[in-house]
Amino acid sequence: MASLYSPTTTTTTTTTTTNISAAAGISHHHLFPKTSQLSISRGLGRRRPTSKISCKIGKNNDQNNPKTTNEGNANMFDRRNILIGLGGLYGAATTLGGAPSSLAAPVQTPSPNACGPADVPSNAPGLNCCPPRATSIVDFVLPPAPTTLRVRQPAHLVDAQFREKFNRAITLMKALPASDPRSFTQQANVHCAYCNGGYAQVGFPNMDLQVHNSWLFYPFHRWYLYFFERILGSLINDPTFALPFWNWDTQAGMRMPAIYTDPNSPLFDRIRDRGHQPPKLLDLNYDGDDTNDLPEQSTIAANLSVMYRQMVTNSRTARLFLGAPYRAGNFPNPGGGSVENIPHGTVHVWTGDRTQPNFENMGNFYSAARDPLFYAHHANIDRMWSVWKTLGGNRQDFTDPDWLNASFIFYDENAQAVRVRIRDSLDTARLGYNYQTVDLPWVNARPTASSTSRVRSVTSSTPQAANGMESSTSKTVKLPKPLTKSLRSNVERPKKSRSKKEKDREEEVLVIEVDVKRHEEYVKFDVYINDEDDVPSKKMQVKAEYAGSFVNVPHKHKHGEDKHKMETTFRVGLTEIIDELGADDDDGVTVNLVLRAGKKDNVVIKSMKIEFSS
Ligand code: C2O
Repeated sequence: MASLYSPTTTTTTTTTTTNISAAAGISHHHLFPKTSQLSISRGLGRRRPTSKISCKIGKNNDQNNPKTTNEGNANMFDRRNILIGLGGLYGAATTLGGAPSSLAAPVQTPSPNACGPADVPSNAPGLNCCPPRATSIVDFVLPPAPTTLRVRQPAHLVDAQFREKFNRAITLMKALPASDPRSFTQQANVHCAYCNGGYAQVGFPNMDLQVHNSWLFYPFHRWYLYFFERILGSLINDPTFALPFWNWDTQAGMRMPAIYTDPNSPLFDRIRDRGHQPPKLLDLNYDGDDTNDLPEQSTIAANLSVMYRQMVTNSRTARLFLGAPYRAGNFPNPGGGSVENIPHGTVHVWTGDRTQPNFENMGNFYSAARDPLFYAHHANIDRMWSVWKTLGGNRQDFTDPDWLNASFIFYDENAQAVRVRIRDSLDTARLGYNYQTVDLPWVNARPTASSTSRVRSVTSSTPQAANGMESSTSKTVKLPKPLTKSLRSNVERPKKSRSKKEKDREEEVLVIEVDVKRHEEYVKFDVYINDEDDVPSKKMQVKAEYAGSFVNVPHKHKHGEDKHKMETTFRVGLTEIIDELGADDDDGVTVNLVLRAGKKDNVVIKSMKIEFSS
């Protein structure tokens, strides 16, 4: 076993480097076997104040302040040379001028040396999220498929031996000097830098690199945990070490796992919601307060129905599950996938401390990874990606090269900076790990239609429609409109009465364009279809009318300027819900958006429409 992990087998990375001018690329080694490494001693990109959408907040925006940046001599390079140097299939396209955003290109991460000041809340002044400088960057090369896999287990089921091992590894990681990229401090900062505007995209100095709210979400976090796990394993010299996962999608896992809640453990974090310590049951549909608490059995049932909704109903296409495309030069935050919104976002906020200024630690992206529980939460998110691909239908990864070739940079267990691509992350077994198989109790937790009358959205045909149900029409509301409490509107369906075959081929998707004016605040709204209530009560089971939730995990401090708002898109799958509600012959649906968390003036609904996608 140990032979798998001798220092010489850290061949997940290559070690030769080439000089920047010779580097035809950060290109993938399969395409460019000879020049797959890139030595970077200077930055490849420079952050500048963004002009429009930003993950930044104004405060630390002074890019000319040498004290607050570690980007060194990045500016000595002519940007075009750098882009040509980056070359490859993708970099070249961006050097040709014109409208870069219209040219296909994967998002690329610049050198750690180009990391600039992140935007962190005012209660964390001077926090530098940037990693230490890199003397070279190597491209990740997938090792041969390993024969033994590291097995990630549910955190509530680990034994004493594992617990001792894990505690030891985290203790060692926390004991590393903060200047060591493998240290716990630096590992936590990785998340801050990649979310809070530490990096601009290669070739697009005015564009933040943002790893949330898009198709980068799953692969970025998979790589992040991969290196975190490898570092821990190497610190205790145990090649079998695997992170545990917070198995919140099963009844026994719906609490903070005990190994994380012992105040004497290095896994403990003081900055968590005190009211949510065990035995408090987790609410996957958390609104930011505990006012909707249900009896325990109902909460468990509701959690399972939420899982069903997100993993089954709202995951029938790659875009619905993995998130919206985000290419080089695009604005960040095009739209997160179903599970990224909820329960990913809700579990973050449920775990963070409401009494802290910004829901620290877990409830805000700049601080989330300071809590060891972050990595268990994300291991379960990562597991959901693996599970999703086993659920059938059209649930397959994107094949778009702009997704497959998007790159990130991490430090590995040898403190070597490594460039990774999404294409190498798709199969966990190739990365040397998998998940212990556990039950998926939510697979059959399909919400059922409420038995009371419900709205039938009829725009052109006779109102007194089928089933003896009470029918009514709903108006089409003119958008944009702020979401102050609830917003109810008819949305027309371009197609209706589709055959089963058509429904299997194409998902009917409700697309909602959303502006969040201040994304440093928690925002959550729920979406209901053909529900009779303007504000459906949550004090009951999740019902068929519930279509999903939009969640914004806070990641900014308060800033009122428009350029700091987040423009994003939220999608929910309607095919199954419309069938369940018996509404497939209707010309439209009544969509009801209900603000569950957030201030009245923070959310604007810009448009709602239905589209069909495969
Ligand atoms: Cu990078 Cu759970 O967030």
